[in-house]
Amino acid sequence: MTNRAPLPAEIARRRTFAIIAHPDAGKTTLTEKFLLFGGAIQMAGQVRAKGEARRTRSDFMKLEQDRGISVSASAMSFDFKQFRFNLVDTPGHSDFSEDTYRTLTAVDTAVMVIDGAKGVESQTRKLFEVCRLRDLPIVTFCNKMDREARDTFEIIDEIQENLAIDVAPASWPIGQGRDFLGCYDLLHDRLELMDRADRNRVAESLKIEGLDDPKLAEHLPADLLAKLREEIEMARELLPAFDRARFLEGTMTPIWFGSAINSFGVKELMDGIGEYGPEPEPQKAAERMVMPEEKPVTGFVFKVQANMDPKHRDRVAFVRLASGHFERGMKLLHVRTKKPMAVSSPVLFLAADRELAEEAWAGDIIGIPNHGQLRIGDALTEGEVLHFTGIPSFAPELLQSVRSTDPMKAKHLEKALMQFAEEGAAKVFKPSIGSGFIVGVVGALQFDVLASRIEIEYGIPVRFEPSQFTSARWVQGPKDAVEKLVNANKQHISIDHDGDVVFLTRLQWDIDRVLRDYPEVKLSATKEMM
Ligand code: G4P
Repeated sequence: MTNRAPLPAEIARRRTFAIIAHPDAGKTTLTEKFLLFGGAIQMAGQVRAKGEARRTRSDFMKLEQDRGISVSASAMSFDFKQFRFNLVDTPGHSDFSEDTYRTLTAVDTAVMVIDGAKGVESQTRKLFEVCRLRDLPIVTFCNKMDREARDTFEIIDEIQENLAIDVAPASWPIGQGRDFLGCYDLLHDRLELMDRADRNRVAESLKIEGLDDPKLAEHLPADLLAKLREEIEMARELLPAFDRARFLEGTMTPIWFGSAINSFGVKELMDGIGEYGPEPEPQKAAERMVMPEEKPVTGFVFKVQANMDPKHRDRVAFVRLASGHFERGMKLLHVRTKKPMAVSSPVLFLAADRELAEEAWAGDIIGIPNHGQLRIGDALTEGEVLHFTGIPSFAPELLQSVRSTDPMKAKHLEKALMQFAEEGAAKVFKPSIGSGFIVGVVGALQFDVLASRIEIEYGIPVRFEPSQFTSARWVQGPKDAVEKLVNANKQHISIDHDGDVVFLTRLQWDIDRVLRDYPEVKLSATKEMM
């Protein structure tokens, strides 16, 4: 990307990112502080309070609350200094990883939050691997330094070894637990001191002239200062210095230390995302690369959320703008259906409130309310036929059959199931033999969530039951070969909500047999949604 002209200022100031973390590491708290410093909320605690008010609206949300997970993801925009931050929320629970994967296709950076006492945890590792698949630059925030934490070198070593990425300290913690005083900012030679008295106050920041500056002794006790000098000397010798190019290519992560709940280290982290983080990146389409600075507007749907407001039964498609300057009321081409679409009431998400988006630029996330036309993977353009790639759909790992316990409502069930399939909440397969549907999910909890949503949003009581199948594979290949396979294996064949052929089985042996008997056919565990 070395020979590209600078991006238009409005695009260049955008930073679109997600936070990845193991549950409990502090993602919600950090999000809240981002919004607080971004002026999107007035007071910490609002995000949660609003969340709870919303939860009382439906029992489905109650399920969310009972299980202590966040099912619905959203996008939030706010300004910080000269930057416009777009924070795309990722659902935290491992059961919803497919949604998370897709969310990560819409961002340019990920912020990885780890708990200073726990280090790299299972979910951190999984999410990190997804970021790596996409070479996403990763910024690390080591949280909860106000509690007993591990030794700083040990934390850094663990990340380096566990995740095979170089770690460059951007700040260095001074003391830990009850003795945690703040951090030394290695990139700007500043001393940042935590204010324990007021959790929402930003720390005091003192410009100093390196580690020999006598000012340090005025603020730090002699033993901690000696330790700090020694550790930083060692760190400079043993650890790589921050290199922006390596960060942008995804092989090095800068790490900041702090305490989200005490608002400490958060501003430095935000500065870091702004200063070093990538501008909106080019997006890959099957036809060509789409550059953010291109004049015509293009974008792709990476998430569809249905029934955000149960009263209106609306759906919102979340669109990442890949290029151009979008203005409200624009007519865009919906590439899949080849139909024009007037985007008259797009929304930007400011904290928990929605606001009409008068304009948006490449890198932004806008929500488009619709009645089901927009699906995950769909492209919107000003006329060009483009298919954005890299938005995966995974084969479900668990399959169950579903039926309504109220026979009168059986025929409405199909509509409800199709809607959830389009939303990406589950895979729905209609077997070619018999009636009924098979539902596939990635994590078991999704069955409970679906049953609860179908009942609340559609008034259909349902029961999930074990099915005879355990694996689903999309069938791809020349038309006549696929047809031959279908005709000879009817008991294994079903159709997904897009009308694509899916092979269902419980035996690996069956899959091997098909691959042997139909060499032209591919059985795929993922399908690109486009
Ligand atoms: P998550 O979204 O990643 O799951 O984590 P969340 O922010 O909800 O934080 C998990 C717990 O860790 C919360 O405590 C939160 O207050 C606490 N926490 C977050 N940041 C820090 C920090 O910097 N220092 C310390 N000591 N704790 C922190 P909780 O008891 O589960 O919830 P709450 O009752 O405090 O809301």
